[in-house]
Amino acid sequence: MSEMSSIFDAGAFADEAEGSHTLPAQWYWDPAIYERERQAIFARSWLYAGPAAEVAEPGSYATAIVAGRDIAIVRGRDRVLRAFHNVCSHRAHRLLDGKGRRSVIVCPYHNWSYDIDGAFKTARGIEGARGFDRRAAALKEVRVEILAGLLFVNLDSGARPLAEIGGAMAREMAERCPGLDRLTLARSHRVETRANWKALVDNDLESYHVAPAHPALAELLDYSTFRVWEHEFTTSHIMAGAVGDNRAYAVGADDPVQNAIYTWLWPNTAFFISPGRNNLAVFQMVPKGPELTEQVWDFYFEDAELNEAERAMVDYTCDILIPEDAGLCENVQRGLRSPGYRQGRFVVNRANPELSEHHVHMFQKLVRDAVLGAP
Ligand code: FES
Ligand SMILES: [Fe+2]
Repeated sequence: MSEMSSIFDAGAFADEAEGSHTLPAQWYWDPAIYERERQAIFARSWLYAGPAAEVAEPGSYATAIVAGRDIAIVRGRDRVLRAFHNVCSHRAHRLLDGKGRRSVIVCPYHNWSYDIDGAFKTARGIEGARGFDRRAAALKEVRVEILAGLLFVNLDSGARPLAEIGGAMAREMAERCPGLDRLTLARSHRVETRANWKALVDNDLESYHVAPAHPALAELLDYSTFRVWEHEFTTSHIMAGAVGDNRAYAVGADDPVQNAIYTWLWPNTAFFISPGRNNLAVFQMVPKGPELTEQVWDFYFEDAELNEAERAMVDYTCDILIPEDAGLCENVQRGLRSPGYRQGRFVVNRANPELSEHHVHMFQKLVRDAVLGAP
């Protein structure tokens, strides 16, 4: 059936969006592609791991699952932020759960203990283990950085610094949302969508579908002011909010955030700052299988107590916008299985970005290069 010699062939996908087809449909369901992506993308990229405010004080810790791995993020007595594989070097029990504060990390299984900087401390009866190497028993560190008041973890010790990859994007967000790094995690929403993670990212990176698929959003935002740009691993989409009544929620003329700025950080984290008080919604598209994605939404506001407009914004997002997009992506996922579809075309219209998918192409090119091992 397929003219392609192997699944690891991007077919008519090309370097330039204007002349390119979309990635082959099989890349959205083949388990070999999924496995390659786990190694080549998720084990090597900066992934969102929660609010940095939870690890502000010495001894405070938070836990997260990053690229399928249990990770603990700990603020040391020296105030240095560290992240570790959250696993005991004795017989692999998980060390920390949830979040909190510790002066020493004690494994619940047999009580081996570690300093909060990760150094091995004590193990009852360890003198019987010949040649025991205390240094080798230390916790295994992974990279952690803070961007826009958020924690990001990277399992690749050789990864480029996050500040280098996402710094320009974060500055653009802070310019339009001055209280960005002082926000509080006020609401979380989790939902599974039966589609490949890339179908969700593709959908996030274009507004071509807004007019047909999101009638209320099309009223909230003034798409005549829509501008988009990109850096090497991020995209930024900005437009003015339409002040006044619309079907999404109310925005006041004197609210500090008047523009909507929607950004994305390779590979799977999107950020939404919406008209209103200072706010940030983090949207991470976490792959759970070749055709299953967990949508992780964290809503940050000035205060844990939301005002009426903010409650309406969260309700609109969770009850209307997310289901609208999930419906599109699940529908597309079935289509990607159809023998009647192999590779589509991008609509590229740089002068009128509301009708342009060149950022979808940019994302798919990063995927192609990572999967095929290009530089
Ligand atoms: S597994 Fe942690 S002390 Fe045994
Ligand atoms: Fe959408």
